[in-house]
Amino acid sequence: MTVGVVVLSRLPGDAVERLRAEHEVRYRDEDSPVPVGDLPVLLSGAQAVVVTLGHRVDDAFLDAAGPGLQVVANVAVGYDNIDVDACRARGVVVTNTPGVLTDATADIAFALVLMATRRLGEAEREVRGGTGGGGWGMFHLLGTSVQGKAIGILGPGAIGLATARRARAFGMSVLLSGRSAPDPEAVAELDAEVVGFEELLERADVLSVHVPLSPATRHLVDAAALARMKPGSYLVNTARGPVVDEAALAAALGSGHLAGAGLDVFEDEPRVHPDLLGREDVVLLPHIGSATVETRTAMAGLAADNVLAVLAGREPLTPVR
Ligand code: GLV
Repeated sequence: MTVGVVVLSRLPGDAVERLRAEHEVRYRDEDSPVPVGDLPVLLSGAQAVVVTLGHRVDDAFLDAAGPGLQVVANVAVGYDNIDVDACRARGVVVTNTPGVLTDATADIAFALVLMATRRLGEAEREVRGGTGGGGWGMFHLLGTSVQGKAIGILGPGAIGLATARRARAFGMSVLLSGRSAPDPEAVAELDAEVVGFEELLERADVLSVHVPLSPATRHLVDAAALARMKPGSYLVNTARGPVVDEAALAAALGSGHLAGAGLDVFEDEPRVHPDLLGREDVVLLPHIGSATVETRTAMAGLAADNVLAVLAGREPLTPVR
């Protein structure tokens, strides 16, 4: 049987209703990713599929959907869960959700900067554990001030630049480094310096990772890169876990070379490297960069708009090129 649209996970807002107004929709109203074995039944005959990050879209997925599939709409800006070449080979359009999650994710990136540098996770655990030591103390839980320090943005796309704007507002200077040149207007507005990867590592007091995951960026921040970072500096990652070699990061923290880290993403989510789990100087969040009601509603709405556009024969709003 053909079905217009398959939505593989529960979506907020009116995205599903809007899809239903125009198409037959098979809606799996559940949060957890679909067990791979259930995909053939769910996907068969789909013209469009709305997917979330827990789903891997590969040849097996595309086979399960069959030849009628026209579009895969990812409810995320990153699309490393999708084999874009395999989709392209079958003429399947891929879309993502850039723009609508920029501020929410940059908020979490800068929250992690503050949490790591001011030791907020450790402080909160101390209070909850009842070992607060009576509160204020001259030498109690001293952190590092961000004012006058340099943030290094690895990957100055929309989220990286939005994080840099927050850093400026907190009195930090901005270094930018990436594969493509950042928007000149943003560079001027941020009074930023554009530098190479190695200089970024050597000069940043806080390195914030914003590159997408690809074969070229997997373990880009490896043991050698971490060794180049300034002694006493911090690492924050809100992009994708595998960009950072977690074992090497744990070693760099263990040796005291790095002062702390803040991570919203992990190499093998939801698993966290055991050498990081036990450390007080690492802040760990469960991939909540875009997790606000407003942002997730906008992401779902944009994914629905992309599906509606493709099925109506129009250009999608935010195609992956
Ligand atoms: C979340 O990680 C996203 O890519 O949107």
